[in-house]
Amino acid sequence: MKDDLNKLKQEFSGAIEKVKDSDGLEAVRVEFLGRKGKLGELLKGLKDMSDADRKKFGQLSNQVKGEIESMFAAKENEIAAAHAGEVEKEEWIDITVPGLQCREGHLHPTTQAITEIEDIFSHIGFTRFPVLDIDWDYYAFESLNIPKDHPARDNWETFFIDAPEGKKGKIVATPHPSNAQVRILESTKPPFRKLYIGKAYRRQSDPSHLPIHHQFEILMVDKGLSVVNLKGMIEHFVHTYFGPDVKVRLRPHHFRFTEPSFEVDISCDLCKGTEFVDSAPCRVCKGGWLELAGAGMTHPNVLKAGGVDPKEYSAIAFAFGIERTLMMRAGISIPDIRLMYKNDLRFVNQF
Ligand code: PHE
Repeated sequence: MKDDLNKLKQEFSGAIEKVKDSDGLEAVRVEFLGRKGKLGELLKGLKDMSDADRKKFGQLSNQVKGEIESMFAAKENEIAAAHAGEVEKEEWIDITVPGLQCREGHLHPTTQAITEIEDIFSHIGFTRFPVLDIDWDYYAFESLNIPKDHPARDNWETFFIDAPEGKKGKIVATPHPSNAQVRILESTKPPFRKLYIGKAYRRQSDPSHLPIHHQFEILMVDKGLSVVNLKGMIEHFVHTYFGPDVKVRLRPHHFRFTEPSFEVDISCDLCKGTEFVDSAPCRVCKGGWLELAGAGMTHPNVLKAGGVDPKEYSAIAFAFGIERTLMMRAGISIPDIRLMYKNDLRFVNQF
């Protein structure tokens, strides 16, 4: 037994010396120290010995076992240290090198304008109402006092969706966010102030028209409203968005869903309404005024369609085209409004 133990120790020390990495270390561990390893097998012999022998060899076995284990631990430390050194060499990074800078983007000018407009109206009690982009003909036209086949519909040159007709008519890509008006009246108890911002889909695409443009519209319902309130609201927006010196002019117009109706002009901020900049004709406006919005007192038939009694309540509504409003404030006259959506960063980054 003594010889066997010494032989095993020698064998182990030869084997552990050759170990170069953690795989080798594991193989030696299994071979000698594992559950069915050589050391265990040898120690099994103890149980068949006489008490005296067991005592004698037991001690020796423990000593040899201890030596073997400490050789193993020493090798284990050596390998771990070598590995750490390698990792340090391979994965070393210079944390003082400046980082890669991400190029920062920004919101599209239209989105910026929408946020700003919402902010202006939220300060005077308006809350947003979601507008549907795709809606029934009923909400886009019929409920707004524009019956089927009425020639006024041509003004909006509508896109119809190729889908079966329902109880509320055909489905359209909304030609103006005014489709929200009767939906608001149906769902909100007056008095209220609502702002809704949506898209206008129209069959047009030329230097001054987009097939899809954005509009913001307000609907305010209360008792005893008049054109004074309408003009006041428009002026509040114009003075906050464009500046206090910009003037507002209402020109009589015709919409089926408002009575009376107006087109809204603002004085040109570039030439200050004088039509000339440095004695050259103003490049933004013609005649010192810019047309920006449609407006009016809500027609009684629209209030009725939404279940509101026009004898009790009155309402005002107006809508501005966002792309034009944005260009006007920037004092930019672009040769083609479609540039706004060409995704050319040289254009977009100017805002
Ligand atoms: N919906 C109209 C348009 O698209 C604008 C408008 C809105 C006019 C509200 C009056 C009241 O031209």
